[in-house]
Amino acid sequence: MGEPTSFPRPVPGDERRHSFTGLYDVCLALSMKRRVVGNDGDADYKDLVIITGANQGGKSTFLRSIGLSQLMMQCGMFVPAEAFCANLCANLFTHYKREEDVSMKSGKLDEELSRMSDIVDHITSNSMVLFNESFAATNEREGSEIARQIVSALLERRIKVFYVTHLYEFAHSFYDKGMENAIFLRAERQADGTRTFKLIAGEPLQTSYGEDLYKGIFGTGN
Ligand SMILES: Nc1ncnc2c1ncn2[C@@H]1O[C@H](COP(=O)(O)OP(=O)(O)OP(=O)(O)O)[C@@H](O)[C@H]1O
Ligand SMILES: [Mg+2]
Repeated sequence: MGEPTSFPRPVPGDERRHSFTGLYDVCLALSMKRRVVGNDGDADYKDLVIITGANQGGKSTFLRSIGLSQLMMQCGMFVPAEAFCANLCANLFTHYKREEDVSMKSGKLDEELSRMSDIVDHITSNSMVLFNESFAATNEREGSEIARQIVSALLERRIKVFYVTHLYEFAHSFYDKGMENAIFLRAERQADGTRTFKLIAGEPLQTSYGEDLYKGIFGTGN
C-alpha cells in the first residue's frame, strides 16, 4: 500500500520520549486497504498526553497507533511511522470504555472502576496506560474528578498516560495547571466540518462538534 515503516529508536524506560513523524494505525490501514492519515507529534519529556476534539476525528485511531507502535518496538519490530522514538515501558495497559452487554455483572461505572483497580494492582513505575473515554459513565463533574484523581496518582508514580476524553472539566483542569510535563492534542476539524484526522496541539474546547454528526445523520432540513 506504500505505507512507510521504519526502525524505531528506543530509549531507556526512565526517560520520557515520544516523538514521531507519519505515525499511523497499522490496523486501520490494513482494514481500509489503503494509506491512512499519519500524525507527527512531539511529547518528549512529557508524562501526560490528553487528547480531545472532534467526534469521529481520529482520536481512538491515534491512540491505537500509540499502543501498537510501542508494542511493535518492544518486540524488536519495525513501526508504522516514518520515524519514531520513545522510551521503553515496563508494562503497557489499556483502559477503554466498553459497550454494555449481557455478560456485564455490574453497572458501567463499577465495571470501569474494577478494571482500573486491577490495573493498579499490577502497574509499576515507567509503565504506560492508554485511556479511551474512561469514567464517562457518570456525570461530567464526578467523572472528571475520578479521572483527575486517578491520573494524578499515576503521574506521581512516574507512569506515562495517554488519555482520550470528552470530559471537558477533566481536560481543562489539567490544562489550567500549566504543567510542563503535559501536552494537549486536539483532533482537528476544519471550518466546514471536515475531519482531517490530524492531531494538533491545542487547548481542550467545550465542544466535540457532535452537531456535525447530528446534522449528517438527521439531515439539515426542517
Ligand atoms: N488517520 C486516519 N486516516 C484515515 N481515516 C481515519 C483516520 N483516523 C480515523 N479515520 C476514520 O475516521 C473514523 C473515526 O475515527 P476514530 O474512531 O478514531 O474517531 P474518534 O475521534 O475516536 O471518534 P469518537 O469521538 O466518536 O470516538 C475511523 O473509523 C476511520 O474511518
Ligand atoms: Mg473514539
